[in-house]
Amino acid sequence: MGPNEVLLAVKDLEVSYGHINALSGVSLEVRRGEIVVLIGANGAGKSTLLATALGVNLPRAGSVAFRGKVISGQSADRNVRAGLCLVPEGRGVFAAMSVLDNLLLGAHHNLRGVQRNLARVYEWFPRLKERQKQVARTLSGGERQMLAMARALMSSPELIMVDEPSLGLAPIVVNDIFQILLRLNQEGFTILLSEQNAYKSLKCAHRGYVLETGRVTLSGTAQELLANPAVRAAYIGA
Ligand SMILES: Nc1ncnc2c1ncn2[C@@H]1O[C@H](COP(=O)(O)OP(=O)(O)O)[C@@H](O)[C@H]1O
Ligand SMILES: [Mg+2]
Repeated sequence: MGPNEVLLAVKDLEVSYGHINALSGVSLEVRRGEIVVLIGANGAGKSTLLATALGVNLPRAGSVAFRGKVISGQSADRNVRAGLCLVPEGRGVFAAMSVLDNLLLGAHHNLRGVQRNLARVYEWFPRLKERQKQVARTLSGGERQMLAMARALMSSPELIMVDEPSLGLAPIVVNDIFQILLRLNQEGFTILLSEQNAYKSLKCAHRGYVLETGRVTLSGTAQELLANPAVRAAYIGA
């Protein structure tokens, strides 16, 4: 249970949708305290990997272990109670509900800690506190991303997986989102995120994996990947 404990271990994971192989033998690890980024273009398999880790998809082969225990095949619901969570691509907030009700929905696994968790979340996201009665539909894209992350945090996770948080957001708002991810990491949350924005996410992460059509083609520390000519050419444009 030390700081270097492997929290999430994905091994030789294969996932297919009918005849389409979305993941063809992916292995990766996330250690406690890390920010790890999964870099890949559209269709690389990022969302599939995160959804399979959560327990939404069943792998055809391979395994997912959380805190040393194999969880693949277990329901997403049970995995959330065990300390995993996923902020889905496109945020997935309930547009017709208020900010507060969205947050309370995120706490349904963990009703005992609600008031404490709400206070913590409002401290990290003061803008959501100001807007707690506002209907989520009226939030900006960045605020919706914050709400989706805050809602995930209401389940008291250990590992927070965030699928393409920067998608569709203006560069200045993307910076805010990555600042928040750094803050959450400092608060003790381990983070696995997926991104097409390789430069900004690698600036914020400790390590990364490059995913191409369902396979990991490169991995290393964030510095190594930022300096890698293939990464620069394909994902950074320099
Ligand atoms: N529900 C689905 N049904 C069929 N194919 C899918 C489905 N979801 C994803 N795929 C396919 O699986 C591959 C990986 O997709 P995805 O995991 O969404 O990649 P990414 O998140 O990196 O864009 C793509 O070829 C995509 O078209
Ligand atoms: Mg995706």
